[in-house]
Amino acid sequence: MSDKPRVLSLMQPTADSLHLGNYLGALRQWVALQEDHEAFFGVCDLHALTVEVTPAELRQRTLRAAAQFMAAGVDPEAAPVFVQSHVPEHAELMWVLSTMTGFGHAARMTQFKDKTAKGGQDQANVGLFTYPILMAADILLYQADKVPVGEDQRQHLELTRDLAQRFNSRYSPTFVVPEPHIVKSVGRIMDLQDPTVKMSKSASSPNGIIELLEEPAVNAKKFRSAVTDSGREISYDEEAKPGVANLLSILSAFSGRPIDVLVGEFEGKGYGDLKGAAADAVATVISPFRERTLALMGERSELEQILARGADRARGVASRTLAKVYKKVGLLPPVRR
Ligand code: TRP
Repeated sequence: MSDKPRVLSLMQPTADSLHLGNYLGALRQWVALQEDHEAFFGVCDLHALTVEVTPAELRQRTLRAAAQFMAAGVDPEAAPVFVQSHVPEHAELMWVLSTMTGFGHAARMTQFKDKTAKGGQDQANVGLFTYPILMAADILLYQADKVPVGEDQRQHLELTRDLAQRFNSRYSPTFVVPEPHIVKSVGRIMDLQDPTVKMSKSASSPNGIIELLEEPAVNAKKFRSAVTDSGREISYDEEAKPGVANLLSILSAFSGRPIDVLVGEFEGKGYGDLKGAAADAVATVISPFRERTLALMGERSELEQILARGADRARGVASRTLAKVYKKVGLLPPVRR
């Protein structure tokens, strides 16, 4: 047992490659947090089943996601890396928590409403509805103090906290009530083709997102064709110059230099210079990242062993929590024969 605060986060294996937003918004934070926290990082493949995916693709993406965590610097010795479905306690705790979640509360989740806005609720599966309860189970099983997530997950964290508090007061103190760890300093990474929307895998055009595992030359080209504006001046203004502001944010995040310093350096230079500098700064970081990911993918059985060890360590914690929960709610323990 460690006396460091505990952090936990999971990422969905919904794409063949993570993108720049995942890297800055999640992976880089995870790597920083593992230093002075007891950390657990997972690939939430059960969540990924809420949208249709081919089985072979899901398996491949699950491995790739785990490989990318480690390529980014997650150290699986320090911070177990595991696959959610390898730890059956997630689905088990979720059932108990679902019996304590108000139907109305779940129906108020804005992400569910957004995701079902297009096709209507009749087109949605029930898993999409109970998704936040599975997420609550992910978190509460590990007694996590802090959960690094994006702003879009804040409401799910609130539900998680409510469930923990409800359980603790109905039975007795059982769960740590987790805090969201939402990093704002990075600014939002926007789509290169439409800098008014967040860079995301549901982007309208593949040219708008920088995939970490893409060929470096392809990413360089995407930067060259990034949308800016008809002006010439390089200044940071999210409203009036969202494209330029986004390029400055990206360059700043990857070069470690503050935006105002960059704006000074680019005085008298053109948008092409800024695009080139952003592309180079990103390539310097993600080229070795890509190499490491491909190397890990090339040693599949080793990668699977790392995940097996991660799942063992995760289960060590998760099974203790679940046993307490089952006992407190009154499920009859099986006796050994
Ligand atoms: N719902 C999260 C997302 O889409 C992923 C997730 C699932 C998660 N379980 C989690 C994040 C537990 C943090 C902790 O971003």
